Amino acid sequence: MYNFKGKVALVTGAGSEAGIGRACALRLAAEGADVAIADIAAPKKAGRGKNRWGGLDAVAAEIAAKGRKALPIVADVSNNVDVQRMVKQTLDKFGKIDILVSNAGIAGMRKPVREMTEEGWNQTMAVNLTGTFLVCKAASQNMIERGKGGKIIVTASINGKRAWAERSDYCASKFAVIGFTNSLAGELAKFKINVNALCPGLVETDIHRGWIAAEAKSRGVSEESIYREYYDSFVSKVPWGRTATGEDMAKVVAFLASDEAEYITGQAINVDGGFVMER
Ligand SMILES: NC(=O)c1ccc[n+]([C@@H]2O[C@H](COP(=O)([O-])OP(=O)(O)OC[C@H]3O[C@@H](n4cnc5c(N)ncnc54)[C@H](O)[C@@H]3O)[C@@H](O)[C@H]2O)c1
Repeated sequence: MYNFKGKVALVTGAGSEAGIGRACALRLAAEGADVAIADIAAPKKAGRGKNRWGGLDAVAAEIAAKGRKALPIVADVSNNVDVQRMVKQTLDKFGKIDILVSNAGIAGMRKPVREMTEEGWNQTMAVNLTGTFLVCKAASQNMIERGKGGKIIVTASINGKRAWAERSDYCASKFAVIGFTNSLAGELAKFKINVNALCPGLVETDIHRGWIAAEAKSRGVSEESIYREYYDSFVSKVPWGRTATGEDMAKVVAFLASDEAEYITGQAINVDGGFVMER
């Protein structure tokens, strides 16, 4: 549908089996792009007992199977040394970055503020907000220097537009990510670099597994039962009647990365089955 032949994409947070990042990387590769895929240290195992998942290497193999080149990079987006190395490795292998999908993120503490630790707060901000800043800064530098424009898509969240109780660290980080994205869009427009935020609704990934495991333990029930309870109660409020998939996100990311989206910048686009709408 799009022609990304000759384009190079960098996708962070791309090693998780059920994740949005992997879906985006595969879609961009299917459209012809070579893709550098980055994730933090250990391969991410999918939650439903699939312990054989091979993380970044598995995603790289999937990209190669589509006839595109892949570069798996282990990097922590909250660490500037890692981010600099990640971009350098991408440039060393592919020579440029046309498309950045800054997607790595964590769910945060999911607690009342009075129970949150400063350390946990800082961690959420470090990955979701500072990580976005560091990755966008490093990758946009190459786009600016090359003078051929570029596309930056940042994964924010509907939690960057609507706050929820007991999610204050996550909501604060994602509200800030949208503000950062909009500001950067204004700044980079003169370089013909589009910068937009993707705001997913609820996608069935592993991002919630941490608090779900803790909740299951404290209630003495299975993780799967909490997982289903959480997702099913959310779905009842989604007009479209289902949770989102990584592919739902990848379709919009591919569009935003394409020439078709040339005149779209500084937007935070909900992909949420109508969950957030003015009623
Ligand atoms: N799943 C949802 O319902 C949902 C909704 C709205 C927004 N999002 C956002 O989508 C993005 C992707 O999340 P997902 O749902 O696919 O979850 P996921 O856990 O499957 O993927 C997130 C990936 O980011 C990686 N990561 C975490 N910390 C990192 C770090 N410091 N450096 C590099 N990589 C790191 C993880 O290892 C993981 O592979 C996140 O930014 C998240 O906030 C998710």
